[in-house]
Amino acid sequence: MRANFKGRDFLSLLDFSKEEFEYILDVASDLKRRNAIGELHNHILPAKSLYMIFYNQSLRTRNSFESGMTQLGGHAHYLASDKIYTPAIEGEEKAYSTERVSDVARTLSRFGHAIAIRMYGPPTNWIYGKAHSYIREFAKWADIPVINMECDKYHPCQAGADMLTIKEKLGGFKGKKFVMSWAYSPSYEKPLSVPQSAIIAATKLGMDVVQVQPHGFELDDKIIYACKDMAEQNASKFEIMYDMEEAFKDADVVYPKCWGAKKEFDNLGKGDDIAMRKLFEKNKNWICNQDILSLAKKNVLYMHCLPADRGFEVTDDVIDGPNSVVFDEAENRLHFQKAVMALIMR
Ligand code: CP
Repeated sequence: MRANFKGRDFLSLLDFSKEEFEYILDVASDLKRRNAIGELHNHILPAKSLYMIFYNQSLRTRNSFESGMTQLGGHAHYLASDKIYTPAIEGEEKAYSTERVSDVARTLSRFGHAIAIRMYGPPTNWIYGKAHSYIREFAKWADIPVINMECDKYHPCQAGADMLTIKEKLGGFKGKKFVMSWAYSPSYEKPLSVPQSAIIAATKLGMDVVQVQPHGFELDDKIIYACKDMAEQNASKFEIMYDMEEAFKDADVVYPKCWGAKKEFDNLGKGDDIAMRKLFEKNKNWICNQDILSLAKKNVLYMHCLPADRGFEVTDDVIDGPNSVVFDEAENRLHFQKAVMALIMR
């Protein structure tokens, strides 16, 4: 295919075709091979700057982007949102404490070559979709590409790394059963971004996808419709289930992970977590242990974006066991994001 990525934003995998996504994965594999043999590739983005604005904490995202930019010959700047004039949209500004997103985006566009943003949860009072619209506002005003480092709807860099891992381990996607499952954690302050991007990515690439959760933890309807549509185009399956054991049967990949109940985010934003807590307490048995893993195929891949809540979402013997590929996923954040940056920041 004729690659046409230069200057594009990377905000959601829904903005990219299947062929384009496959192409990014190919470039990521190529950059990973070059790394493995010690081949320098710092000529790809020489002296280029990436500005990373974090409204939330991070280990993997920050460090994989920083290392990635160094390896490509450029530099990544870490900008904690509370240590700059916090970028804010019109109507939410405070004098000399915030700066309008349109002004931040246009200023950084004069200095460097891409802006990356992480924002979900508390900075937008958990109002679903608002963090994503902030990132779209940056993209509207920036003259340089904008990268979503995780918002309240999507985590496309994580999903890209996940799919690269599956490609490496299983050799392809068609006919493989991918199970995205809710799992319990004592912390409910978790966005829907990882599961939503994972099911978008897996259905786009033609996997047979099962989305499983307790009642009350359903994902965004619009994303579910998009997944059903992509599954139809790929002649693959997309199913919603409410029984973890049933879902795990004969799976090639399982991805058990906690997220908050979408319908309770508004209350959470107002400081009322009673209903959210009740929903969580009812479903403490949603844990990935060896018993449930044994229902899947023998060589099933256990996946998690990390950080994992050990002893709650997953037992130690599973996450540290032979089926676990969590550190391959973490490593592939580096390679996948390098591919994205190399393609859009040229
Ligand atoms: N998976 C992920 O995005 O990790 P961090 O929160 O550490 O960046």
